[in-house]
Amino acid sequence: MRDGILVTGGAGFIGSNFILYWNETVASSVVNLDLLTYAANPANLASLRGNPAYEFVQGDIGNASLVAALLAQHRPRAIVHFAAESHVDRSIAAPEPFLQTNVQGSFHLLQQARIYWSSLSPADQSRFRFLHVSTDEVYGSLAPADPPSSERSPYAPNSPYAASKAAADHFARAFHHTWGLPVVTTHFSNNYGPFQFPEKLIPLTILNALEGKPLPVYGDGLHVRDWLYVRDTCAALGNLLNHGRPGETYNLGGNTPRTNLEVVTLVCALVDELSPSPAIGPRNKLITFVNDRPGHDRRYALDNTKISAELGWNPATRFEDGLRQTVRWYIESPAWIQSVRTAAYRDWIHQNYTRRPKA
Ligand code: NAD
Ligand code: TYD
Repeated sequence: MRDGILVTGGAGFIGSNFILYWNETVASSVVNLDLLTYAANPANLASLRGNPAYEFVQGDIGNASLVAALLAQHRPRAIVHFAAESHVDRSIAAPEPFLQTNVQGSFHLLQQARIYWSSLSPADQSRFRFLHVSTDEVYGSLAPADPPSSERSPYAPNSPYAASKAAADHFARAFHHTWGLPVVTTHFSNNYGPFQFPEKLIPLTILNALEGKPLPVYGDGLHVRDWLYVRDTCAALGNLLNHGRPGETYNLGGNTPRTNLEVVTLVCALVDELSPSPAIGPRNKLITFVNDRPGHDRRYALDNTKISAELGWNPATRFEDGLRQTVRWYIESPAWIQSVRTAAYRDWIHQNYTRRPKA
């Protein structure tokens, strides 16, 4: 597997999009280590079944002996670390799994990566990369007139999720600074696209709109997120694996700031157009303001100057086009939707939204 890579969390939303992208564009072998938590769906990668360049391993990034064995067996030239607990609302309801996976799990993965990397020849050491995936949320909430967060902005994580990602970032940085592990860290903004678990804003809104259910908007709906199409993220990550400089951090923003209300309203218009229903009527009538998320960050934005200048990467997909493709994908994927709507999923929806009576 000389050119192969180890991906963690590759059965989740961005990880599975990345593996599919990698298979189409690079086609070197991939080992996908994923614990298969509630957020995972191995069916995302059904098209790779039987492909000799793809191997799935169910397991925990915190399992040091498993990770050591995988690295020794496959000898990858890079690790792309997506695996995480990723949902802010769940981190508020139950923060401990975020500490376990995002902090301790990432720490153990870094430890095993360092031991493996130390064993490589000088040439293989200089090729190796640990691509550490992080989020814009570590920079905290911006005021309306603040400039977008750059790689030099101070950390100010506000949710347990953001705090756990920030802690992992600091370990990744320390492993580079102390031992020279070639870590490249990337922070990106809110992704959207196919295979996103429908507890996040965009897929939840699409599914509820299709079924004529209320569309919950937290607080006043004027919180701003910077939306990035997942395929653009994958292109940036592929680029960073080849050209990102070890020890450096790169921010990837979508250049698409939108309030949540704007996003939900646009989803309604697209669902009305692509799946009209006289029985349901115009979907924007379903918008329901509900009690806000505790500590809800008002605004995130990322400055792309560095990755644009160094690697020539810029987001390529207009939000309206990416969202149209995403809505179409959910409309055309009833079997996938069925497969993720487990009893545990229904419990989560019940737990999250019965605590949020209409504002
Ligand atoms: P996701 O929740 O859809 O998928 C996470 C995957 O990690 C799942 O397949 C899960 O089974 C796996 N996993 C969880 N714990 C594990 C463990 N202990 N060992 C092995 N696998 C484990 O997440 P996502 O939205 O695809 O996000 C991927 C990464 O990108 C995360 O690190 C997240 O913090 C980061 N990120 C996401 C966004 C976004 O908008 N989704 C934005 C910025 C950064
Ligand atoms: P989410 O998709 O959970 O991502 P994040 O919290 O990581 O940004 O939420 C995106 C935004 O949408 C966030 O401001 C919270 C808001 N939101 C709602 O208004 N209603 C919802 O039902 C959900 C899940 C999120």
